[in-house]
Amino acid sequence: MDYWADLAAHHAAVAQRPILDLFKTPTRAEAFSARHGDLLFDFSKTNLDDTALDLLVGLARAAGVEPRRAAMFAGAPINETEGRAVLHTALRDMEGALVVDGCDVKAPLRATHARLSIFAEDVRTGRFRCQGGAVTDVVNIGIGGSDLGPVMAVQALAPFHDGPRCHFVSNVDGAHVHDVLKGLDPETTLVIVASKTFTTIETMTNAETARRWMAARVAEPGRQFAAVSTAPDRTATFGIAPERVFGFEDWVGGRYSVWGPIGLALMLAIGPARFGAFLAGGADMDRHFRTAPLARNLPVLLALVGVWHAQVCGHATRAVLPYDQRLARLPAYLQQLEMESNGKRVAMDGADLPRHSGPVVWGEPGTNGQHAFYQMIHQGTRVIPCEFLIAARGHEPDLAHHHRLLVANCLAQAEALMVGRSLDEARAMMAARGLTGTELERQARHRVFPGNRPSVTLAYPQLTPFVLGQILALYEHRVFVEGVVLGINSFDQWGVELGKDLALRLMPLLEPGAEGTPDEAAKDGSTRLLLRHLR
Ligand code: F6P
Repeated sequence: MDYWADLAAHHAAVAQRPILDLFKTPTRAEAFSARHGDLLFDFSKTNLDDTALDLLVGLARAAGVEPRRAAMFAGAPINETEGRAVLHTALRDMEGALVVDGCDVKAPLRATHARLSIFAEDVRTGRFRCQGGAVTDVVNIGIGGSDLGPVMAVQALAPFHDGPRCHFVSNVDGAHVHDVLKGLDPETTLVIVASKTFTTIETMTNAETARRWMAARVAEPGRQFAAVSTAPDRTATFGIAPERVFGFEDWVGGRYSVWGPIGLALMLAIGPARFGAFLAGGADMDRHFRTAPLARNLPVLLALVGVWHAQVCGHATRAVLPYDQRLARLPAYLQQLEMESNGKRVAMDGADLPRHSGPVVWGEPGTNGQHAFYQMIHQGTRVIPCEFLIAARGHEPDLAHHHRLLVANCLAQAEALMVGRSLDEARAMMAARGLTGTELERQARHRVFPGNRPSVTLAYPQLTPFVLGQILALYEHRVFVEGVVLGINSFDQWGVELGKDLALRLMPLLEPGAEGTPDEAAKDGSTRLLLRHLR
């Protein structure tokens, strides 16, 4: 059976159908939504029907999602281009044993987690002393997966902060490290150098700068540095004592690493117990993903809705719109998770991908986005599937009316996208304002909303550590399922290499004497022009 061909044919047959018509079936909303605990995933405001869903589930099954899922959790080397297992799930379920290549991988995870927790408590309680006393500020230096997870989660869980203030430096632009450090006291600051490889040029450059900043005031700056890495030899060369180095294995991908030592900044902010609740939320979603039938499985459904929109309907982007200010960095986090994982042009076997890879992911929190780019989402010529996230409750009981406004706006946007406003309705509006004739017609046309624009909504009770863990694991597994359906290896990232190599080779050409050198002459005309202009 050719599921892709059948899906294309079905899409062609139903593409013009109003989504709203699907609600003539009274059970539509219940049938096209799925629950796990207190999470509700509503995908009824899409053009999916029973036929499409059956085909998509069949596609997932035929692509081997179930055996591949089992292989991932069992520690098989499913990251085939790097010959590695993919076991970030073990970081959030450290109980028992998991034997991979003859070794139990869980016992060392528990040992590192215990060390991490003790260190975090020492810092939080003031037992760990800096030159100037207890730690007041933590600076996490990392980039990509060594930054986006911690920075997003620390912001998301602000109501649970009771530790030192956390700051993040990622960009090699000196403005970033400068602006973060300028307000801090080196005598009470702890620096975490977070880098899986401990070779990333941005992170190592920022770490050296931070060390110089600290050395100007602190007699033993190395004592106020901790490192998180898979490369203990390099952390030692940098001068960080082993007791403040927290390692992890290469089967934890950078963009999947917030659950382990890379999450140290989060653990320092909210404490080991709440960090444990974050892990428990992730593990809870893992269990659901492993056991729920495909057609009721939240990550599978989220992935299949994505495949429907991106590969079947041909929508090139999807907007992630958290109606939760504390999830402001979630779109950036998901950009790495989804685009670094599934933005690949060849399939696992190296053959050209026969269809588009994963979509462009972008977004901003609501309601801010409403006053910026929603114009295009509602009336632009391109259809942009939207993913809304909304909590039933905020964390500010005395501001409950804010939260009601937030929820109302979220639901209103999804409704407006689907229902739209017809030309007749727009005409009636203009007539009520006293317009007539050609002016009425002209003005009315600008006020038409085509509607029939798809969205999904993930509703959760409240943004707690447990719920954040559930949400992140949900998205991770969505990426996994999409990758399997597309035949992609979601766990490598070769596409980041070329630019890094070229940047290193360009560095000498920025020196004053580089003009006219053979290396410069070998560059293309545009790069030469820019080099000269910038020098
Ligand atoms: O350049 C991409 C990347 O390798 C990401 O995959 C990774 O999260 C990031 O760089 C940072 O890498 P590291 O943790 O090794 O410094």
